This record gives sequence, C-alpha cells and structure tokens, in this order.
Amino acid sequence: MTKKSITILGIESSCDDTSAAVIKDAKILSNIVANQEVHQSYGGVVPELASRAHQQNIVPVVNQALKIANISKDQLDAIAFTRGPGLMGSLLVGTSFAKSFSLALNIPLIDVNHMQGHIMAHFIDEGQKMPEFPFLCLTVSGGHTQIVLVKGYFEMEILGETIDDAAGEAFDKSAKILGLQYPGGPLIDKYAKQGDPNAFKFTKPRVGDLEFSFSGLKSNIIQLIQRERKKDANFIEKNLIDLCASIQHTIISILLEKIDNAVKKTGITQIAIAGGVSANSGLRNALLKRESTHNWNVFIPKFEYCTDNAAMIAIVGYYKYQNQQFANSGITAKARIKI
Ligand code: KG4
Ligand code: ZN
Repeated sequence: MTKKSITILGIESSCDDTSAAVIKDAKILSNIVANQEVHQSYGGVVPELASRAHQQNIVPVVNQALKIANISKDQLDAIAFTRGPGLMGSLLVGTSFAKSFSLALNIPLIDVNHMQGHIMAHFIDEGQKMPEFPFLCLTVSGGHTQIVLVKGYFEMEILGETIDDAAGEAFDKSAKILGLQYPGGPLIDKYAKQGDPNAFKFTKPRVGDLEFSFSGLKSNIIQLIQRERKKDANFIEKNLIDLCASIQHTIISILLEKIDNAVKKTGITQIAIAGGVSANSGLRNALLKRESTHNWNVFIPKFEYCTDNAAMIAIVGYYKYQNQQFANSGITAKARIKI
C-alpha cells in the first residue's frame, strides 16, 4: 500500500514578516512572504505596527499560498504555526488565525518553535544534500545567535549563545549608525561587496569560547564616527563602502572563530547555518571556503529559507505530524521559548 501524502499549511508571524506556505510531504508547493515596509524609517521593528500589519496581511497571504499551491482548504491535513519565540503581539495574530482555521476545518493544529524552524529549513526537500545527525548549526537571526548541536529532528542542544546583541541586531544597529534603513543587514552586505574589509579595525569581544558578544562593536563604531566626523563632517558618506566591508568582516570573523571553537570541542565537521544572517554573502562564501580548507561539510539554506518564512514552519509541521505531536486548542503564543 502506498503511504498517503500529507499536506500542511504553515503560518509564520513572529516578527515583521507575515508568511504562509503549503507543504506536501517534504516538498514546498508555495511560500508567500509579505514584508512590512512600515518599519524602514524607524531603524527597527515597531511591535505595535507589526501586529497591526500582520492582521491586515494574514488572510490575503494564506489565500495566496493556497492558490499558488493549487490546494483547496479541504485538502489540508493540518495547520502548523509559530508559537514563539518572537514579539507577543505578532505571534498572537498567527496563533489565533491557526487555531480558528484548524477548528473550522476540524484538522490538527501543530505548534512550532521558530528557532527549530530555521534549523529544520535544511530538511525541505529540494533535491539538495541534507545534513546528517549530529551536526552543528550556527543560527544567526535578528533576535538570536546560537551554536546548536543538532542530534535529531527534535533533539537540539544550545552549546553557546550571545550574551547581548544578536548578529542580525549587530548588522541592523551598525546600519542605523551609518544612516541606513532597517533592515540594515542586506544593505551592509550590498555595500560591503565594493569596500575594503581591512580599512577600519574594530576590537573583538573577550567572552567564553562558545559565547558571542556584539555590543562592543556598536560602541566601537560610534566612537570611530564621532572622532572622524570632527575632522570631516562627510566621513560616513565618503567611507560608506569601506565602513560596511569592515563591519561585516568583523561580524563574520567573530562568527567563524566561534564555529572553529565548536568544531574543536565536538569534533563535528558537519556545519550548517540558519536564520536571516545566513543570507549574508560574506558569511556564505567564508563558510564555503572552509569546506575545502578545513575539510568540512557545509550546509547553506536556499536564500528564501534564510530569512523568516513559513516553509520552515511547515517542514517542522510535517515531521511533527508523523509523530502525531499535535497541540490542543487551548494553546497560547509564547514570546520566550528555548529550542
Ligand atoms: O531570521 P530573520 O528573518 O528574523 C528573525 O528571526 O530575527 O532575521 C532577520 C535578520 C535582520 O537582522 C537582518 O538584518 C538580517 O537578518 N539579514 C542579514 C542579511 N539578510 C537579512 N544580515 C546580513 N546580511 C544579509 N544579507
Ligand atoms: Zn527568524
């Protein structure tokens, strides 16, 4: 007898992207993401505006995901949604929608940890090589920076994390100091390509082997700019590409140093990256280089599965469905949950 295929709708609304995806077994049929431009001029996400935008976007985004996938709602086997971690007001929109939809369709509801979702994006089947257990995953997003030991689909252990800002935050806060719009990561990435990564030197943090710290970098940049602006008011404009390249180089070398430490400690050389910052071209290239120089096996998600998306929520849903790990209808969103 052939196994019945499973079709799941995934919903993601933890921060400032409203996303819905349809997955059939481990293959994605659609993955719609509505970005919220409303935050651009604020230098960061404004929680109140984010939840309001999710409310506006959620129904059209879900409709679009079903339409592109050519799936009617009656064909869905379950609804998977991001329970946390994230912004409470944002999570509530996706959680409430998922609960109501599963109740209306009388199908199971599956809660998903957003950070597990980022890691599990590696198991979306696109015919690519997939990591084998155990592997190390550097999870770098706007809210988190962690080195995770992944022992199984649901067996993950944080080996080290940031003691202050996340890597994405370091990109965004640096960009804000340079007068660039939110989110600054992609812009720094773009300008860095043309600049000199060694033009400016920033000090590296002194923390534990597997810990990260980025708050010192922010102070370093502010001090440099204040000092140089006294001599030349147009310092930033004249040096923008070199500043971006040097900032990016510093963040990447901190990340690489920590992965090196984790490899030394565990002896594991299967290395994956996940989360919004894994879209960074400098980080992707540096890791690929290590594949040959260090004999590592490196796994980099497809670009659209790096930043927040519902496809990664749907793939977790698919694995949880097989274990019959369903949520009850009383489940609530949770702003802070461990992996
Ligand atoms: O995973 P994500 O979409 O949302 C969170 O869960 O936080 O990550 C967003 C973060 C932002 O800080 C954004 O600036 C950063 O990912 N980011 C990048 C790039 N694309 C997104 N950082 C550096 N280079 C990029 N190309
Ligand atoms: Zn994320």
